[in-house]
Amino acid sequence: MIEIKELSVDSLQGTVTFVYEDQQTDNQILEQLKSKQVFEGKSGQVFYRTTNELNYEIYVGLGKCEELEREDFVNAVAKAMKQAEKLNVNSLGINFIEAKGLCTGGVTKAIVEGVKLSGYKFSKYNKGKENYNPQVTILGAPKEKAEKMAVKIVEASNVIDGVILARDLVNEPANILYPETLAERAVLAGKESGFEVEVFDENQIEELGMKAFLEVAKGSIHKARLIVMRYMGNPDNDEKIGLVGKGLTFDTGGYSLKPSTSMDTMKSDMGGAAAVIGTMQALAKNKVAKNVIAVVAACENAISGGSYKPGDIIGSMAGKTIEVLNTDAEGRLTLVDAITYIIEKEKVEKVVDVATLTGAVLVALGNEITGVVSNDDAFYEELLVAAKRSGEKFWRLPNDKCFKKLYKGNFAELKNTGGRYAGTITAGMFIEEFVQDKPWLHLDIAGTSWTDNGNDCTPKGGTGAPVKTLYELVVKHVCNHSK
Ligand code: BES
Ligand code: MG
Ligand code: ZN
Repeated sequence: MIEIKELSVDSLQGTVTFVYEDQQTDNQILEQLKSKQVFEGKSGQVFYRTTNELNYEIYVGLGKCEELEREDFVNAVAKAMKQAEKLNVNSLGINFIEAKGLCTGGVTKAIVEGVKLSGYKFSKYNKGKENYNPQVTILGAPKEKAEKMAVKIVEASNVIDGVILARDLVNEPANILYPETLAERAVLAGKESGFEVEVFDENQIEELGMKAFLEVAKGSIHKARLIVMRYMGNPDNDEKIGLVGKGLTFDTGGYSLKPSTSMDTMKSDMGGAAAVIGTMQALAKNKVAKNVIAVVAACENAISGGSYKPGDIIGSMAGKTIEVLNTDAEGRLTLVDAITYIIEKEKVEKVVDVATLTGAVLVALGNEITGVVSNDDAFYEELLVAAKRSGEKFWRLPNDKCFKKLYKGNFAELKNTGGRYAGTITAGMFIEEFVQDKPWLHLDIAGTSWTDNGNDCTPKGGTGAPVKTLYELVVKHVCNHSK
């Protein structure tokens, strides 16, 4: 719980004060610490002291006022929370501070984010490592803004709960989370937050003609599920935006088997699905006035006598034929059928697909920037606006027609791999062959949806990316027409 109070409350076990390196304050203790160079307010610096009442005062440096970016502030909040957790503080006051480029609402949002994300742990199977969830009070905020801040706290909190749901889903191992149970989790999220979920079984998927999707799924004992989520927050408008999440609950690579060191994190190959489910929950909880359909083609890429094999020529819901040269390039096969479904059956105007699609995106952009391929400049600009608000990072790669020859088929219309070079682009452009004339964004989150190292805001495991950006994208999305 996070609330707002005007003045410090006696019962608080700790307080947090943010300090700029280059700004004087009227706090004498702080100025003394600065002059003695014990604590100077440098970015990332933390200092704490015990008061006469045996409470804690935690000071966190923000660095130079002009240089502070939104994410630095979120990280500073998270640093303070980590210190408070070590000190076993159960009730904590956070002194409000103005930050460059952020309005009061922006600061509030950043505080909620830092507080909630830093406390997250996937502790279900690891008793004694529970989430850190103290009572937090924001102190000394502008009085006239209190009401607006309270609204912001609820909204931001719901968005972060979406991020946390995505993290939980990614962190859940594949023996627990498989297509059927992933669908159950989506149904539960829909019931609790207010969106409709329809789940199709393998027979219904076959009736829909989703041949490429079923080829990937057929080697596993866990049967495929098509999860369709509908949230109609603006019934007066018939425009719908479509979100498609890659939902491989485990990716062994199939007969093009992955080496063990690449396979050990492949429970996270449903990170795209987790992100769209988390986003739907956030949108519904905040009653956002937009219409959104999300689709997940959930399956497991496993080996058995019945698995698809390199060289197989398969069909697809759109009718295009595909030569499977590598069974590990399975994500795009499931995605193209999900995209055909969402365009033809759900009638969405625009499509965003989110997928842990290529190792190549890690080589190109690393762990903190999501790779983008798009057929629409204006839609990409909208994504950048959303990203500015969320603090997540994106970079667009070129979908030049020179890459087309890499994935044109020999024995079928298309090949499911374009070889080693430009792997993220050819994967994206393969999907582009199925988006018809719709404005489309492809977000390759193979690098950003999982972290091996972690930081104060994100422990090792699922990051929940890019829920915050998808939420902002939908909220800010300008509808083109109404009923
Ligand atoms: N799920 C993987 C991509 C991936 C790699 C996700 C690393 C997260 C971390 C995807 O299905 C895959 O195996 N892609 C292949 C494509 C190749 C065979 C064309 C890859 O990136 O190696
Ligand atoms: Mg694969
Ligand atoms: Zn995969």
